[in-house]
Amino acid sequence: MKIGILTSGGDCPGLNAVIRGSVLKGVISYDTEFVGFRNGWRGVVEEDIVPIVRHDVRGLAKQGGTILGSSRTNPFEGEGGGPEKIQEMLDRNGIDAIVAIGGEGTLTAARRLYDEGGIKVIGVPKTIDNDLAATDYSFGFDTAVQIATEAIDRLRTTADSHGRCMVLEVMGRHVGWIALHSGMAGGAHAILIPEQPQSIEQIAEWVESVRDRGRAPLVVVAEGFKFDDMAEAHSHKGLDAFNRPRLGGIAELIAPMIEERTGIESRATVLGHIQRGGEPTAFDRVLATRLGMAVVDAVHDGAWGSMVTLRGTDIETVSIADAVGTLNRVPQSRYDEAKILFG
Ligand code: F6P
Repeated sequence: MKIGILTSGGDCPGLNAVIRGSVLKGVISYDTEFVGFRNGWRGVVEEDIVPIVRHDVRGLAKQGGTILGSSRTNPFEGEGGGPEKIQEMLDRNGIDAIVAIGGEGTLTAARRLYDEGGIKVIGVPKTIDNDLAATDYSFGFDTAVQIATEAIDRLRTTADSHGRCMVLEVMGRHVGWIALHSGMAGGAHAILIPEQPQSIEQIAEWVESVRDRGRAPLVVVAEGFKFDDMAEAHSHKGLDAFNRPRLGGIAELIAPMIEERTGIESRATVLGHIQRGGEPTAFDRVLATRLGMAVVDAVHDGAWGSMVTLRGTDIETVSIADAVGTLNRVPQSRYDEAKILFG
């Protein structure tokens, strides 16, 4: 049995731990051979394949990024794209199955390849945003929360020294899990997430109540947050026609609005790709390793079109169809719980 592994979409701490988990499990338990497709689906379409042996995964659990590289290539595009060409490529190289490690886009493509062409593919969920349905947590999320929490702790000392309001922007295009968890862990006075639009009046009220208690206000905002009153935001000429900040991130729009309304000097920090880089936390290493091992079992069971997933503390297998199409959003109850601590 020969398995081809790929990592696709935005990188994520823990990808290398999945590769290591798979290779060790495959070599030790099944005498499986492994190859890697370089740069995600691009390696599949362009037949860019490298061997992976046990020696290659030594010490890899703690290494950030992905040794295979990544891209956002669509496997249905390009000369070698589409299920027929891909099956020919797999046959030519003696590859029996593909393990696709990726988020919503990668898994949707994997499912289509299986549904439309019978490609033997199994998915492993990956996202720092924790926005994938059908898994309780995805690896990379814990690391991102840890990094964002450290940033909040650091911002707090400089905020206190100057009596400033700090606005920290974290990742989360569609969901606010990183903002919610880091904001709770770091004791933020307001958490702004895509699932819960707010008015600038409400944000200013939270900030002022913190100032009135003699504290320096700290606001955490997910990059996908939007005001509930877009007219108000447009009046600041900060958003484009798609409601995206014109310059910089949403934090750079909100900080001056807070300053204008409250008179509190405000600063914006955009954490950006720092929260996706570096070593994964121990939690993410363990989760990624377990998923990597489980996907090899799934391959040997012939569970094509499925995805390995975390349910409670168990690793299970679900259909990829159950994991794509719906996002794992922050529920109202979790936001209400955090909101008690605002202001
Ligand atoms: O989907 C993960 C994510 O980290 C998002 O939170 C963020 O919006 C996006 O990737 C950034 O993508 P890129 O690395 O392509 O700029």
